[in-house]
Amino acid sequence: MNLYDRIPNNVNLSEDKKLQRALEKWLPNYLDWWREMGPEGFQEKDVWLRTAVDVGSEGWAHFDYVKMPDYRWGIFLEPPQPDAKVGFGDNYGRPAYQEVPGEFRNALRRIIVTQGDTEPASVEQQRQLGKTCPSLYDLRNLFQVNVEEGRHLWAMVYLLHGYFGRDGRDEADELLERRSGNPDKPRILEAFNQPCDDWLNFFAFTMFTDRDGKYQLSALAESGFEPLARTCQFMLTEEAHHMFVGDTGLGRVCRRTAQLMKEGDVRELGGIPLEIIQKYINFWFSYSLDLFGGEISSNSADFFAAGLKGRYKERDQYTDHLATDQNFTMTIVEDGELKTREVPLRNALNEVLRGEYVKDCEKGLARWNKVLADEGVSERLFLPHPRFHRHVGEFAGHTFDLQGNLISCEDFERKKDEWLPTMEDREYVRSLMHPVYEVGKIANWIAPPAAGIKGKPFDYEYVKL
Ligand SMILES: [Fe+2]
Ligand SMILES: [Fe+2]
Repeated sequence: MNLYDRIPNNVNLSEDKKLQRALEKWLPNYLDWWREMGPEGFQEKDVWLRTAVDVGSEGWAHFDYVKMPDYRWGIFLEPPQPDAKVGFGDNYGRPAYQEVPGEFRNALRRIIVTQGDTEPASVEQQRQLGKTCPSLYDLRNLFQVNVEEGRHLWAMVYLLHGYFGRDGRDEADELLERRSGNPDKPRILEAFNQPCDDWLNFFAFTMFTDRDGKYQLSALAESGFEPLARTCQFMLTEEAHHMFVGDTGLGRVCRRTAQLMKEGDVRELGGIPLEIIQKYINFWFSYSLDLFGGEISSNSADFFAAGLKGRYKERDQYTDHLATDQNFTMTIVEDGELKTREVPLRNALNEVLRGEYVKDCEKGLARWNKVLADEGVSERLFLPHPRFHRHVGEFAGHTFDLQGNLISCEDFERKKDEWLPTMEDREYVRSLMHPVYEVGKIANWIAPPAAGIKGKPFDYEYVKL
């Protein structure tokens, strides 16, 4: 097999023998990881998947049946911009970094490793879900997300191997050694150690946690380190589908629940009550907010100053790319009370990015509530306050209700089962999860999608079992 068939790429890999050798050494380890930790039970099945073959806005993807271990995980970067400049921070306006600047080496490696670690982690979290899929359409979407997260790992490993020498190679090996939820060698970020073992979890995860990915990648797509910016820009193209899966998945669950509400008792009819959907939203939204990091952060200031990580749509949305003169008004907890504090803007950039994310999530809630309204039920879903159930930053270690009011630990413990999924809730949801493998059929707890994938109908044989 020639190199391009083994590792499809648009980075002239065949001309960089050293990098080529390094990646070819990593490839079998990656495949071992995929076989051990990728989707269980479906490795030899033909799945109708899209494969990235280029980065052009038209025809970047090719759709066909492929067995997942034969998927062509490739390395694709958006084309370089001539005269690319650092778009923000202390080096604003200087030529973009084509190599890793020595003084930012550790920071940059940490950013890339942290992003890279999330990609295989989510594959590990989702590896059992094929056994309980609600339809072949959903099964195919799960596997599409999984192989693309695998490709995103490739994207980050390319940067580590290509730009960080020996320690980059070591980090790339460790990305295959950590395991989601493993107490001895867990994944780096907590949301990626949480179990994702039923389809309501999966849809909430792809809605809220993949959406964190969108905002992190968008901030990195502004990076002055050009190879990182170009990589992340292309990853965002694929990421859009992951969020589509979560957003429409939850919308379809809402639709079915609303239909069952009109017929009688949702539980008796085998659906998922809205209260449980709300609890899953509360759980995954709050864990995903943690992924943005502390509200007040010297790292965020350093990354911005260095030109490594910008704001969401830094180039398009802002005119002041230095962000040195402004303050950001933040709510914090002090002496057991909520107080406001002025923080230099650069130290508040995690919170600024989190705010963009929350706005985006609200649009999802509006879509689901429209589904409920269209079905004629009066109940509505909502996002909990961003202070609720946080484990990172200013609000970690304090307890809040869904409206963001500071409450006592005891009050939180008393109310917790109304706000977050209980063991019984999880067991109930799991009890509904029986696989539906027949072409064109769908589980009772979810409505079919409005359309199939890429012009194919819902009743297409998306996976050949
Ligand atoms: Fe990803
Ligand atoms: Fe994703």
